[in-house]
Amino acid sequence: MPKVQRLLEELSNAHGPSGFEEPVRAIMRREFAPLADDLETDGVGSLIARFKGASDAPRVMMAAHMDEVGHMVKYITPDGFIKFQALGGVHDQSIINQRWVILTQKGLVRGVTGLKTVHVIPFEERNQPFKRQDMFIDVGAASKKDAEERLGIFPGDPISPDSTFVTLNDGGLYLGKAWDDRVGLAVMIGVARLLRDTGHPNTVFAVSTVQEEVGLRGAQTSSFQVGPDIGINLESGVASDYPGTSQNDAQERLGDGPGIFLHDSSMLPNRKFRDMVMSVAKENGIPVQFNVLAGYGQDGSAMQRNRCGVPAINISVPTRYLHSHNGVISRADFDRAVTLVAAVVKKLDAATVKELKSFA
Ligand code: CO
Repeated sequence: MPKVQRLLEELSNAHGPSGFEEPVRAIMRREFAPLADDLETDGVGSLIARFKGASDAPRVMMAAHMDEVGHMVKYITPDGFIKFQALGGVHDQSIINQRWVILTQKGLVRGVTGLKTVHVIPFEERNQPFKRQDMFIDVGAASKKDAEERLGIFPGDPISPDSTFVTLNDGGLYLGKAWDDRVGLAVMIGVARLLRDTGHPNTVFAVSTVQEEVGLRGAQTSSFQVGPDIGINLESGVASDYPGTSQNDAQERLGDGPGIFLHDSSMLPNRKFRDMVMSVAKENGIPVQFNVLAGYGQDGSAMQRNRCGVPAINISVPTRYLHSHNGVISRADFDRAVTLVAAVVKKLDAATVKELKSFA
C-alpha cells in the first residue's frame, strides 16, 4: 500500500523535537479530521481525537507521542557556532558529525556537528569518545550577528536530525529518523481507519501526545483530560537483532511481529490485559514477541497512573538504532501491529473492561 508507506515517510521526515511538535500535529490533525467525531487539544498541545462507537463507555485511550529526540539552541559563540541543549536521552556519539536542521523564525537552517579532523587529534586521544559539551553546530555563519540577523537563529530554537526516509533496498525494511514514536502515530492512524469501517463497542480516544522524551508530560495531561477506563500505548520497541547486541539487552527482532512490553523502568502492564492481547493475537494468527527492558520509559505509565489507576499495556513496533539519525523498522511488523491493536479494541466492551479492572 503506497499510501501507508507515504504516510510513514511523511511522519518520519517531519521535524518535531519535544515541545515543538507543530509539524507533526498538523499531519495528525489532517489524518484524523475526516475520521474522528471531534478533535481537541490539552493545555500543553496533545491532540485528542474522539471516535464514538456503539457506546459512550468504556473509554479506550490509545496514545503515541509526536515528539522526537533533538536539541535546542543554547547560545551562539561570538564566531557564529551554535551550542545546544539536548531534548531527550541521546548517546553523545550519535550527535557528532551529523547534519541538523534548526527551525528558526526565518525557516529551516542546515548545520553540521563538526568533527575535529584526525590530523589534529593527539595520538593518545584518537580512541576517546567525543564529549557533548565540546560539540557545536556549524551553520556557516561568519559571526554571532550573522547567525542572528541573516539566518534568524536565537536561543530556544529547536534542532532536529536532518535525515530522510528511504526503503532499505526493498527488503521490507524502512530507514529513517524519529520512528520513536512516529511509527506509533502511524499505527494509531491505521487502527482508527479500521475501526471507522468495522465499528467498535466503546468510545476510542486516539491521543497524539507531546513532550514524551522529556518526561511523559503530554501523556499525563491528556490522560487527565480523557479519563480513560483502559489504555493502550503504541511505541517503537527496542530490537536487539544486530551485531554486538544480545537477548540480555532486549528481546525484540525485526520481522517477528509486534512487541508486548512485560517490563520497563516506568510500567508493568496489567496482567489480564496482557493475556487478552496475547489471545487476540493468537486468534488472528499474529506472531507477537516480548520485551523485558531494564531502562526505557513510555506514555503508558502516565495513563496507568491516571486518577485511581487504569489497566494499560505498551505495544511496540520493533526498531533498530533508536534515538539517532537512522532507525530501521519492518513494514510487516507495522501492518501486524495495526491489525492486532484494532482487533483488541473491538473486543473492549463494557463487560470485558469491567473484568480487566477487577481484582480478586
Ligand atoms: Co518513544
